Amino acid sequence: MRMRAAVLEAFGEPLVVQEVDLADPAPGEALVRLVACGVCHTDLYTASGADPSGYAPTVLGHEGAGVVERIGDGVSSLQPGDQVVTLFSPQCRECEHCVSPRTNLCLAIRDQQNQGYLPDGTTRLARDGEPIRHFMGTSTFAEYTVMPEIALARVSPEAPLDRACLFACGLSTGLGAAMYTAGVQEGSTCVVFGAGMVGLGAVAGCRLQGAERIICVDLSEDRLALASGQGATDTWVGGPDIVQRVLDETRGFGADYTFEATGLVEVMRQAVESARMGWGLATMCGVAGKGETLDTVPRLLITGRRVCGSSFGGIKGRDQVPELVQRYLDGDIDVDAFLSHRISLDEVNKGFDLMHRQDGIRSVIALS
Ligand SMILES: NC(=O)c1ccc[n+]([C@@H]2O[C@H](COP(=O)([O-])OP(=O)(O)OC[C@H]3O[C@@H](n4cnc5c(N)ncnc54)[C@H](O)[C@@H]3O)[C@@H](O)[C@H]2O)c1
Ligand SMILES: [Zn+2]
Ligand SMILES: [Zn+2]
Repeated sequence: MRMRAAVLEAFGEPLVVQEVDLADPAPGEALVRLVACGVCHTDLYTASGADPSGYAPTVLGHEGAGVVERIGDGVSSLQPGDQVVTLFSPQCRECEHCVSPRTNLCLAIRDQQNQGYLPDGTTRLARDGEPIRHFMGTSTFAEYTVMPEIALARVSPEAPLDRACLFACGLSTGLGAAMYTAGVQEGSTCVVFGAGMVGLGAVAGCRLQGAERIICVDLSEDRLALASGQGATDTWVGGPDIVQRVLDETRGFGADYTFEATGLVEVMRQAVESARMGWGLATMCGVAGKGETLDTVPRLLITGRRVCGSSFGGIKGRDQVPELVQRYLDGDIDVDAFLSHRISLDEVNKGFDLMHRQDGIRSVIALS
């Protein structure tokens, strides 16, 4: 079939919206009519050329939600008409990692996906007979996508897809970091560094876990106001003195849980240093620049602080994204506050501009 999609033709250049070909789903795959897609930093990072593993041409986009239109042979968990959220982090339920409760990093299609191919090593996307690669295995800046069954989470038929799409990346990453990776305990003191989509999700996750004190740190007063709306009990403007402030307000100990959601290594260091002596856990969500390192004093670790990282919030996508979407439908998570701009596919580059200017939390592309 022919469809419209936003193609990254060359790094550092605007995306080009155009008609491309999409082949039928192969066995184990499904054709999804996309309804909405959020614009995330990772799309911009790849488009800019900063990502060393990036490739072009490719159809960008990974925060998608839509409706299954057709299924390939052997697909048993999806039916045409199902509402789905796309998963750049799949869940095959069979590999060594999927059967372990300790990680969400499914191994099933990793190598092909990293190179922009579907699991059989080919693409369904093409133009004039030349293959176009599938960014993050999702390519959701498009009217349709073909994806493996194991990378589609079936969500409630009640869920509005322009909200549900945010669970495909940023929001779930933050929520999951607090709920699954760190497993925040009731009554805890938490500090969240960064109040973008990921940090605000972490604030909401800490609240859902019953944290007593949730301190959110950002440089923007507007974003800190949003953090209050998600359950932050304290909002602080960040800077070099922030570790001392956390220590001063926790009887010199530090916070039970800290979360980093800025992508800045100096803030990662602050997250480690403001974690509590004895058992404080610092969870890194941000993606640092190429070659950057996290610098810290090993003595902080000997005295009981722990550091971990979280990819997609530690979420096992097919099982847990539907649960999170249900919590949204039940009124536990305020998603509307994150949806700042609605744009068309033709305006995708405007979505990047808005993100660049830090105008709003998420722009969502309406696709059908
Ligand atoms: N781990 C994952 O699976 C995953 C998934 C999605 C995004 N990410 C990464 O998470 C990070 C956050 O994503 P986002 O969409 O929320 O980004 P964002 O840019 O919207 O938010 C980052 C926030 O950090 C704030 N900030 C900057 N300097 C600060 C400082 N010194 N102290 C406190 N706050 C400061 C900014 O004001 C901004 O509000 C990015 O690095 C992104 O690449 C990771
Ligand atoms: Zn993303
Ligand atoms: Zn797996």
